[in-house]
Amino acid sequence: MSFTAAAFRAPLRGSARRAAQIPKSQFRTNWNRKFSTPPPAPEAKAASSTGLYLGLGAAAVGGLGYYFFNTSSGKETGSALKSELQAAKVKANFVPTKEDYIKVYNRIAKLVEDAGEYDDGSYGPVLLRLAWHASGTYDKDSKTGGSNYATMRFEPESLHGANAGLNVARDLMEKIKEEFPWISYGDLWTLAGVAAIQEMAGPHIPWRPGRIDGFAAQATPDGRLPDATQGADHLRNIFGRMGFNDQEIVALSGAHALGRCHRNRSGFEGPWTFSPTTVTNDYFKLLFDEKWVWKRWDGPKQLEDKKTKSLMMLPTDYVLVQDKSFKKFAKAYADSQDLWFKDFSNVVSRLFELGVPTEQFVSPEPWIMPTVEEQGEKKN
Ligand code: HEM
Repeated sequence: MSFTAAAFRAPLRGSARRAAQIPKSQFRTNWNRKFSTPPPAPEAKAASSTGLYLGLGAAAVGGLGYYFFNTSSGKETGSALKSELQAAKVKANFVPTKEDYIKVYNRIAKLVEDAGEYDDGSYGPVLLRLAWHASGTYDKDSKTGGSNYATMRFEPESLHGANAGLNVARDLMEKIKEEFPWISYGDLWTLAGVAAIQEMAGPHIPWRPGRIDGFAAQATPDGRLPDATQGADHLRNIFGRMGFNDQEIVALSGAHALGRCHRNRSGFEGPWTFSPTTVTNDYFKLLFDEKWVWKRWDGPKQLEDKKTKSLMMLPTDYVLVQDKSFKKFAKAYADSQDLWFKDFSNVVSRLFELGVPTEQFVSPEPWIMPTVEEQGEKKN
């Protein structure tokens, strides 16, 4: 995929402009997990996607019977049936254009801003985490997983340890899905990831629609997402399975400029940077500029900055400055935000397309979705 010059944008916009305040770490006592992902369970063979690929309309209508008889949860079945039916009805005589997807983008952008007291005042980070966890389950050998079928809607994938807390993001997306029933969950979640990055002052992420809703049988086994307690080999195994190399692993990790860890979700606690709602290369800068020490506490092993003790790094973040090959790329990104924006844009765009057969996409090249600010500039 080619990266266009349009994907660069430097100035801060909207809420991202506000210097984010780091609220005092809230200590929550009801945490019970130690790992971002528990040790992998034996890989249950995921259902072959080719056998189940039914095409847009057929997936919505023909698949209903299959789905109905293959899930145990009544509630899950009911809501999936409703949304599939709605989608099928709408799809029968409605072909969305880029303008329609921009309307969904704008609705997500508004929601990102309307977070009130939630975390640091933005839903952006948790929406990006949803898009990444929906995509990062891809296995290039079996061609299973990835963003195509949005299988995190189904148990047990929704309950995998790595996905703890993402119900917040899925519930937010459900509201948008009600307003735009024609969009597939995979397109909606990845578009939310794109909107989150772009509206929090990051680079443009080339994106195009075409994902279809799948079934519970296509859900991926646990253990496909990274475990934050591990080291370089683990990162290479997990991201290598998705098809990413060292440089891409480092570029992707820079997403931790955003958001924070929640004790009652992953067991870890705290933000990585002082501006967790603005996309910057501060994550890389801080890795090099601060002295990182192991936090003394009763939680899982994580690092804190010696100076303020208000920032954190996971063991998998810290490994980016310990491993020689990773370190080279991390240093380059610490030295140049432009370089990181360019590489981040390319690799996130690819991440969000993992598992989607090319013929499903509605356009041969990804689109650049304009930010809300850029749309305003065009009108004026
Ligand atoms: C390198 C391997 C990675 C590991 C081990 C990892 C692990 C984690 C963990 C443990 C959390 C905290 C979850 C919580 O307690 O709420 C987290 C949050 C987050 N991760 Fe990662 N992650 C990785 C890669 C990525 C990638 C590739 C992206 C996106 C491209 C990403 C985006 C995020 C975001 C935005 C958050 C903040 C969510 C929030 O504020 O609610 N991470 N990650």
